[in-house]
Amino acid sequence: MSDLKPPRPVALVTGSTSGIGEAIARRLSHEGYAVILHSRSSVETGRVLARELGNAAYVQADLSVDADRVRLVREATARWGRLDVLVNNAGISQVIPHADLAAATPDVWHTLHEVNVVAPFRLVAEAESALREAAARGKAGCVVNVSSHAGVRPKGASIPYAATKAALNHVTRLLALSLAPAIRVNAVAPGLVDTPLTADWTQARQLWQDRAPMRRSAGPEEIAQVVAMLVASDYLTGEILLADGGLNLT
Ligand SMILES: NC(=O)c1ccc[n+]([C@@H]2O[C@H](COP(=O)([O-])OP(=O)(O)OC[C@H]3O[C@@H](n4cnc5c(N)ncnc54)[C@H](OP(=O)(O)O)[C@@H]3O)[C@@H](O)[C@H]2O)c1
Repeated sequence: MSDLKPPRPVALVTGSTSGIGEAIARRLSHEGYAVILHSRSSVETGRVLARELGNAAYVQADLSVDADRVRLVREATARWGRLDVLVNNAGISQVIPHADLAAATPDVWHTLHEVNVVAPFRLVAEAESALREAAARGKAGCVVNVSSHAGVRPKGASIPYAATKAALNHVTRLLALSLAPAIRVNAVAPGLVDTPLTADWTQARQLWQDRAPMRRSAGPEEIAQVVAMLVASDYLTGEILLADGGLNLT
């Protein structure tokens, strides 16, 4: 069964049927990784993409459910008997004007927190032993969390969303400290990226055109490039890499 154990490293990219996650999966596949694709409900899209990429497999799991998180890591690791890279990309957002405190209900807080903070942490916990084995093979295991500029600056789709990304940034640094040197943990914090999630965010797009030094929002493949840089590194850990076209400078 040699085809089940390619010598190539294996990367699990959550939320990889759309937007930034799909671009990351394509990029890592292009760079020689076997890729585990994942999503919550877009099963057919995931299967088609897996066939298109080759050396890829798709696993469905709802990251708001802990049993699904555990199963996802188990199935991803079992597919080729190893896991070298975990990209915690899947995330959800809700647009709520920051001044509308009543609209940011406890339900909104809990839902966003489960998917954007608890799930990435739990996936790292479940993948820890497999990622440590990567280090034993000669290259540290690698986690990249997809955060947001909203977790760094007092901005973003809503206060609960921004708070989840700030929490994810802190979790990134705490895990980097706890898991080094066997596992590196970093985050990329994108500004506005053109994906289905932001398709109708016209005001934000205008803001980037008017104010960002790069004068535009990012393409998903440009965030994938940053993720690939973090994955390729042998030394970076605990970094939160802002990728916002320089908007934070203004
Ligand atoms: N787009 C931006 O401007 C921007 C900026 C900063 C940060 N980010 C972050 O980047 C990440 C990706 O964003 P995107 O814009 O590429 O989003 P997207 O196009 O909406 O894609 C989200 C992906 O995550 C999956 N997903 C969502 N909820 C899930 C759940 N409960 N369980 C499992 N999978 C789930 C989706 O699967 P299904 O389609 O099957 O539901 C989909 O594959 C997110 O963490 C987001 O917060 C985005």
